[in-house]
Amino acid sequence: MQKLLIKGKRELSGKISISGSKNATLPILAASILGKQVTLKNIPLVKDIFTMVELLNFIGLETKIYKKKNIIKIKNSGTKINTLAPYKLVKTMRAGVLVLGSLLTKYGKAKVSLPGGCAIGSRPVDLHLFALKKLGAKIKIKDGYIFAEVKKRLKGTTILFPSVSVGATENALLASINAEGKTILKNCAIEPEVLDLISFLKKLGAIIKVKGRTIIISKNKIKSFKIIHKIIFDRIELGTYMIAGALMAKKEITINNIDPKIVKSEIEILKKIGVKIIKKKNSVIIKKNKSLRKINIKTRPYPGFPTDLQAQLMVLLTQAKGISKIKEDIFENRFMHVPELKRMGAQIEIKNKTAIITGPTKLTGAEVMATDLRASVSLVLAGLVAENRTVINRIYHLDRGYEFLENKLKSCKAEINRV
Ligand code: UD1
Repeated sequence: MQKLLIKGKRELSGKISISGSKNATLPILAASILGKQVTLKNIPLVKDIFTMVELLNFIGLETKIYKKKNIIKIKNSGTKINTLAPYKLVKTMRAGVLVLGSLLTKYGKAKVSLPGGCAIGSRPVDLHLFALKKLGAKIKIKDGYIFAEVKKRLKGTTILFPSVSVGATENALLASINAEGKTILKNCAIEPEVLDLISFLKKLGAIIKVKGRTIIISKNKIKSFKIIHKIIFDRIELGTYMIAGALMAKKEITINNIDPKIVKSEIEILKKIGVKIIKKKNSVIIKKNKSLRKINIKTRPYPGFPTDLQAQLMVLLTQAKGISKIKEDIFENRFMHVPELKRMGAQIEIKNKTAIITGPTKLTGAEVMATDLRASVSLVLAGLVAENRTVINRIYHLDRGYEFLENKLKSCKAEINRV
């Protein structure tokens, strides 16, 4: 099994370019079922994307990835379509459940494996199914699968989500873009990745308006013509490298291919902690900072602070002066990095949904184990700050979502190697 070896306390300097967003690419790949010829640019070459592409191939689409250009071309010639998403593909990547909405829209039926729980929480799909039922789909659960069907067309209606869910909003959008009449989705997720899906669906001919947390889908004339779409940058990857810079910049590091307006709240929070950030049009510069201050924050749906950056921020707060608190409000079991960080010397206590971090503490290298995607990268950040050598096991989690992680960090003079 592969491991990462990190020699800590190496100061970082240089430039990092941010990849396309994994969480935007996944629903847009699912939406590609609705098109005829789709070209997606700026896709990240990470495991989850390859799994989704495998699923599209299984369904019967033709795909070709141009790795050097980060482009995928997808063709739906309409023959030999399999409206099934099997367990083996959905269990490793929950976003597989997003083909449900597209398959229902295009073929009127779908059999999709229930994704099951995962390390960070139980992660049900009740909200996805609630929306699809409201749109008129008949849903049955049997043998671990969701069987969904619609007699003629789905019917537009008003749906008020009882709580905000990224995936359920995306599935509802995919299911409603060819529904009869108008659909109003209330209390939606408005993450930049959801908005990127909307801009893709508009290219397909959908008429969609977003007002606050309400999304209105009306008068759709879905055409399956040729579509070219460039995926937005990965704001979680950006946040991760901003934190790396805040922890270890020698003088400064520059992070390119981004739009700072999309990560306003993250930048504000980092600034409050004492991180020096200069915003440019398509980049940010993270300067070496003298001292970091404590903060109390909660994870929230966008535009709030993202749960996907909680673990990374916690590492930063181990180096901040005072007692900080992070309340995890999205997932019930997302502190699995804490025992590993404590083995490296961090002082962190968990009380219910809140992590209490006392800093600054000296971290020292240790052999640690990655448990999920974002927890894994927090251990990489801890390894960069720690004295001596850190060994990270089970790094397949990292490969699910971080493109060229070692190369990007090495280009900034980190000592990080895969063995
Ligand atoms: C997406 C992101 C993930 C991120 C999360 C929250 C992708 C591929 N993944 O996941 O990286 O951490 O948003 O920003 O985009 N819930 C229900 N019932 C449902 C659906 C969700 O109770 O039917 C709950 C979840 O258990 C969780 C909360 O709602 O507690 C938010 O989950 P959701 O926004 O749906 O996350 P995902 O779309 O799975």
